[in-house]
Amino acid sequence: MNVLVLGSGGREHALAWRISKSSKLDKLYCLPGNPGTASIATNIEGSTSDFQLINNEIEKNSIGLVVIGPENPLVEGIVNFLHEKHPDLLIIGPDKNGAQLEGSKDFAKQFMNKYGIPTAAYRSFTKETETDAFQFLDSLKAPYVLKADGLAAGKGVIITENLDAAKNELHNMFEGKFGAAGGCVVIEEYLSGIELSVFVLTDGKDYLILPEAKDYKRIGEHDTGLNTGGMGSVSPVPFADEQFMHKVEERIIKPTIKGISQEKMDYKGFIFIGLMNCNGDPYVIEYNVRMGDPETESVMMRIESDFLCHLVAAASDTISQERIKVTKDTAVTVMAVSEGYPESYQKGFPITFSENKLCDSQMIFHAGTKAKNDQIITNGGRVLTASVCGESITSAKQMAYKLLSTISFEGMYYRRDITDDVNRM
Ligand code: AMP
Ligand code: GLY
Repeated sequence: MNVLVLGSGGREHALAWRISKSSKLDKLYCLPGNPGTASIATNIEGSTSDFQLINNEIEKNSIGLVVIGPENPLVEGIVNFLHEKHPDLLIIGPDKNGAQLEGSKDFAKQFMNKYGIPTAAYRSFTKETETDAFQFLDSLKAPYVLKADGLAAGKGVIITENLDAAKNELHNMFEGKFGAAGGCVVIEEYLSGIELSVFVLTDGKDYLILPEAKDYKRIGEHDTGLNTGGMGSVSPVPFADEQFMHKVEERIIKPTIKGISQEKMDYKGFIFIGLMNCNGDPYVIEYNVRMGDPETESVMMRIESDFLCHLVAAASDTISQERIKVTKDTAVTVMAVSEGYPESYQKGFPITFSENKLCDSQMIFHAGTKAKNDQIITNGGRVLTASVCGESITSAKQMAYKLLSTISFEGMYYRRDITDDVNRM
């Protein structure tokens, strides 16, 4: 089978790498891919929002399965577009309706309430109901959690201790701080606990649970400073033991799949459940309709069964027959980022590193790189990952940082404390 992976980040490099190990694979393509995917697949130039070009490439290269990495094309309806042209094409990713679980926080909250899925209490407001929103904020206790309804490139959530600051932020959101995404704002109860990323592969009726992971979101060590796309990840997560994951499956995964089926979503793909462990009970913070980044880099390191077979099963309604094999070893990913990220940063610095000595338990995934004159240069905020699998958290951490020490570029920054908190759990 010929497979096309859409996207260009570390997540897509990791997905493509795992798919490239499959005995069922004929040819692998990435659009647009990156210099990392270029060594395991054929990269096709283009944008993930150019649906017509993507369709042309699917036809030209006899693609049997398309894996959609990022959320934007899903929310914009790429699955509806492609299925209209090719009803039998296998696609990993939900239709436009299903993608609203990530594309609209208000939609996701209504869905969770309808299907009895534990989540923070909330109310939604628009500019017309700003006065009611202020009154609602007055009735809450700090910290205040405000969420722009639509996609805001990971920046649409504001958490503040100060009531006046919350009102100010709310007003700015209604005045267009996040563009149309902030036209509706969800205000919700603050949940205190430890976060976990749970990943499910579904065919819309049944599901396969993939390894869970923990993501390190803040730029600074000990979870300080600005939020980023993610500075590192670890899988498995010690507190996600059998008892906790049983609660997640019964209270969250099963009702979510039931909702997807009852709402008649065409949903064959990943569900990424961002949840909070509040004193041993899981609550959903958000749904994403794709894999997480940099969680995928760690999750893919642990999957031992044929991942392409799982994807094909999800896309063709037979996921209930799949059994996943996962190593008990721990995977750790540390992200190397550009100086200044997540605010402004420069691109174009040459990167020194060697991928020649890598093996399946030690990978460098490309996140924001570019090839120029036989050299790899920085091309984004998040640049490369060191992803390693080891027998324990401690050994995996040591190896990941050792691998990272072989990478260098001007202004390279990374957190030195990835895994330290889970090591103490
Ligand atoms: P989201 O985009 O909804 O995942 O929110 C971004 C981050 O804000 C999450 O990863 C949490 O760290 C935090 N967050 C979101 N909602 C809440 C909440 N209700 N209580 C506490 N923290 C939250
Ligand atoms: N690492 C969080 C995300 O991918 O949204």
